[in-house]
Amino acid sequence: ALCDIGFVGAGVMGKNLILNLADNGYRVAAFDLDHQKLEAVLAQDKAERGDKPARVIACSSYTELLSRLSAPHLIVLSVPAGKPVDDVCHKLIDAGIQADDIIVDTGNSLWTDTVAREKDYEGKFIFFSTAVSGGEVGARFGPSLMPSGDPYAWTRIKPLWQAIAAKVDPATGKPIERFEPGNPVTEGEPCAAYIGPSGSGHYVKMVHNGIEYADMQLICEAYQVMRDILGMTAAEIASVFTGWNNGKLHSYLMDISAQVLATKDSETGLPLVDVIMDKAGQKGTGLWTAVSSLQLGSPSPTIAEAVYARSLSALKHERVKAATVLAGPAQNLISPEQKAEIIQALHDALYCAKICVYAQGFHLMKTAADEHGWQLNFAEIAKIWRAGCIIRAVFLQSITEAYERNDELENLLLDPFFAKQISVYQQNWRKAVANATLAGIPVAALSSALSYYDSYRTAVLPANLLQGQRDFFGAHTFERTDKAKGKMFHVDWSHSDRPMVKIK
Ligand code: 6PG
Repeated sequence: ALCDIGFVGAGVMGKNLILNLADNGYRVAAFDLDHQKLEAVLAQDKAERGDKPARVIACSSYTELLSRLSAPHLIVLSVPAGKPVDDVCHKLIDAGIQADDIIVDTGNSLWTDTVAREKDYEGKFIFFSTAVSGGEVGARFGPSLMPSGDPYAWTRIKPLWQAIAAKVDPATGKPIERFEPGNPVTEGEPCAAYIGPSGSGHYVKMVHNGIEYADMQLICEAYQVMRDILGMTAAEIASVFTGWNNGKLHSYLMDISAQVLATKDSETGLPLVDVIMDKAGQKGTGLWTAVSSLQLGSPSPTIAEAVYARSLSALKHERVKAATVLAGPAQNLISPEQKAEIIQALHDALYCAKICVYAQGFHLMKTAADEHGWQLNFAEIAKIWRAGCIIRAVFLQSITEAYERNDELENLLLDPFFAKQISVYQQNWRKAVANATLAGIPVAALSSALSYYDSYRTAVLPANLLQGQRDFFGAHTFERTDKAKGKMFHVDWSHSDRPMVKIK
């Protein structure tokens, strides 16, 4: 019998998506240049399906892959972002793919590449995309899926994506998690919603990753404060994080941070984090988010700081040298009674900063949507991030509710629930940032979020002086507070009496 769907790429993500589809009753034809990867998928399928017939067929060429599928062909790519995507598309063209066939890219592609590809391949086949979040386990048992592009292609792939996606209990807004091969979660609301025209899904996933970077950095800063100011061990910090994970800060990232901190190195018996080198890697999606926010003028300083924090960490060699040369503040002595207070302040700081990070990310998506004419549904986006993805958290339910109350919300900070939350907890946020700063511990993300909040709520910023400076050295003109909007003025700074000149 013919298969329901074809797959190119049986790496970690591809393999797990294939097995997830198989669990949900779909027959998959798979191809990978590395035959061993296909063998591994077949072996796992065999081990999991027991006596039942094979659910996955391994193909030895692109031509065979097409021959195993009914027309119009539906083929998913799970290959590294960038050139490999185009390489595979060209191979499939050579193998005879047709104009009404669909190729779905699931990599972390740059959204502008996706837009270009849709145009480039027009008439040859339909290029559709689905950004995937959730890592290996998500792919296997339920990822969060952000599809975008041709609406017809969406109708073809929709039942499959809704079947394999993570599910949320509509009554509680919480993930329904079951990590059992052969027993997929079929009940609940699927975390797979059509995002919009070509490129929009990958844009939304890019912002998801920007938020992921900031969320991770915030947790790391709380860890450093506890480690370096309070002198706590990895195990003690793990138990604080476990406690936090039971409250407002409940999230996948909080949970795994506690687990990493609680793990002992199998070689030395030391806490694992104490033997991991403090040099962060990155593959680019956080950087793209920061760049896009700069280009669009939609401030996402905390996301940008998270990218910078990774870059700074990578300068290990310079930092080690600088540590012996540059002075910090005199030793900060914290009394034992202050410990609980500082930990509570950090908790509240993390919560407030996290609200700001999401406010920045959603504002960025709104600005991009206005710029590109996308009708993004923010309540829906928050909904599909409630389960499956890396930033999943109870918190996303409150964001969903905020956008359900008002889908035109300019900034999440203005939603009554979030505005109230920050007003209640901000004092501790300020305290946490001040404590760390006085002790010389960097809290770039925590403090940038605070500056974002304080700037956003300030009716008169010092940009009046800045405009004066620009006009002084470059005749760049300025608006006046007492004259109509858009009327520009300039001062003739060369005259001692500095006369005002109306420009237009
Ligand atoms: C996800 C992750 C995933 C990947 C990141 C890692 O949502 O499943 O974001 O896409 O783990 O790309 O990115 P860095 O290597 O840049 O940290």
